[in-house]
Amino acid sequence: MADWKPVGPEDMLADGTMKEVQVGSTAILLVRAGGTYYAAQARCPHMKAHLARGTLAQFEVTCPAHGSRFDIRDGSNTAWVADLPGIAQKAARVFAKPKGLQTYPTRIQDGQVWVAIGDE
Ligand code: FES
Repeated sequence: MADWKPVGPEDMLADGTMKEVQVGSTAILLVRAGGTYYAAQARCPHMKAHLARGTLAQFEVTCPAHGSRFDIRDGSNTAWVADLPGIAQKAARVFAKPKGLQTYPTRIQDGQVWVAIGDE
C-alpha cells in the first residue's frame, strides 16, 4: 500500500532543478523537469554518491562521482560510470553492474508535492 507523504510546497523547486529531501526514513531525490515533479532514490546505485550534487539536463541526472546517468522519468540507467577511463570503467562494470534508480510516484495536491513511499 502506497504511503503518500507531503514533501513541500508546489513551488519548492524551479523547473530544471533538483534537491534531496527526507521522507520519513527514506532519502529521496526530488526533481522538477518539464514542469513535472519526479522522485527517485537519493543515492547512486554505483557507490552511493548524493545524486542531488550532480547535474540535471532535461530529464537526465548525472552522478557527480563517476558520471553514471539516469532518466529521472523511469529511473533507467543511460550511462554507467561514464567518467572513468577505459580500463577502470571495465573493472567497475565487473564489480558493480549497471543499475537503474528506484523511482516513486509523485502528485500535487492542496498546493503540496506528495511522494508515495512503499508499494503501490
Ligand atoms: S557513485 Fe555514481 S557513478 Fe559512481
